[in-house]
Amino acid sequence: MRSRAEGFPFPNDKNQYLLAVISTEVRTGGSSYPVLIEAGLLPKIGETVKEKLPSSRCAIISDTNVAPRFGDGIQKSLRSAGFEPIPITVPAGEQSKTLEQAGDCCEQMLRAGLDRQSFVIGLGGGVIGDLSGFVAAIFQRGIQHVQVPTTLLAMVDSSIGGKTGVNTSAGKNLIGAVHQPALVLDDVDLLKTLPAHELSQGFAEIIKHAIIADGEMFRQLQDLDVKNVDFESLIRRNVEIKARIIANDERDQKGERALLNFGHTVGHGIERAVGYQGISHGDAISLGMIAACEISMKRAGLSKSDRDAIVDLLGKFNLPMKLPVNFPRAKIFEALKFDKKFEHGEIRFVVSPKIGSAKLSRDATMEDIRAAVDTL
Ligand SMILES: NC(=O)c1ccc[n+]([C@@H]2O[C@H](COP(=O)([O-])OP(=O)(O)OC[C@H]3O[C@@H](n4cnc5c(N)ncnc54)[C@H](O)[C@@H]3O)[C@@H](O)[C@H]2O)c1
Ligand SMILES: [Zn+2]
Repeated sequence: MRSRAEGFPFPNDKNQYLLAVISTEVRTGGSSYPVLIEAGLLPKIGETVKEKLPSSRCAIISDTNVAPRFGDGIQKSLRSAGFEPIPITVPAGEQSKTLEQAGDCCEQMLRAGLDRQSFVIGLGGGVIGDLSGFVAAIFQRGIQHVQVPTTLLAMVDSSIGGKTGVNTSAGKNLIGAVHQPALVLDDVDLLKTLPAHELSQGFAEIIKHAIIADGEMFRQLQDLDVKNVDFESLIRRNVEIKARIIANDERDQKGERALLNFGHTVGHGIERAVGYQGISHGDAISLGMIAACEISMKRAGLSKSDRDAIVDLLGKFNLPMKLPVNFPRAKIFEALKFDKKFEHGEIRFVVSPKIGSAKLSRDATMEDIRAAVDTL
């Protein structure tokens, strides 16, 4: 068990730790909610949700890839526990994360007679988590939200922390709300149908967590047999890392939560440079992390051997180590000025002095970033 002295505000007492081992409790700004991580949770979701939420009416927001696979099972379980679920299915993909789509979900819920006591279940990846969470945040000024993530990325990252939102023509996640879920259910069986490329996207965020907060997990990932992964314990560990980091900084104001942006400054620049088409988020942050390693060597004393180990690990999980040929590199810099981290023209860049730790640096310059991108 780690102590507070090692930089983690959570868990800070033995009872809390026991709870964390059983279910992984996420604490943010005074409230807390359980994250259940287990195989076979979906078939018994009705009973589990009943213990937590008394109302019978709910909407299940899902997408066109996920609903055909798991929609019937979840509805059956909810019905047999006495719920009346209303299924709402949106087209799979990032293009569904819009204000229009959120409004349409709300209209469907109103037509179905859902009210302030009703709740929303988000069944899908990060897109559905963000959209359904936003719908829960605004419907009748806010109703309860249950997250049922179905991608590895959503289980280890987007379902934790309460950030919800939609995209606009000016950029991603620019409209949203912090709305913590009542419950998160990670059924690792659902990962069996996930395409390999989507699994890699989750590993990009897992590797990020290892670099910024858990050197031991980094070494375990180096030794991991990719064909035989214990997802339950891997997800639990990552939920705990993210929970510890956000527990003290729910609204992203103290700088601690910013550490989760390791690799994301350049990563977002890469995504924006091509209008979020043709490169996925995990792939972009894989490259962003390599750039952040270059800057960390220059500004934070990261050793070359740590940098090489990070690049090798990304490669092991089929994440890219080089930008595609003909990529519009110049556009990466144009895109950077939109980055929320470039507050008041000052660059706050997340660097890692050593695998397992990270800090914010104000020393990094635009020239450092340019030089780092040139190595990709
Ligand atoms: N709120 C946050 O804190 C936070 C953090 C990180 C990312 N995000 C958001 O998350 C989104 C990305 O999430 P994602 O990578 O999960 O993308 P996604 O939701 O688009 O899912 C990826 C693809 O996998 C399909 N899919 C999902 N589960 C499946 C399963 N079990 N079997 C087969 N196919 C399945 C989906 O239909 C989709 O086509 C982005 O919009 C990003 O902004 C939010
Ligand atoms: Zn990310």
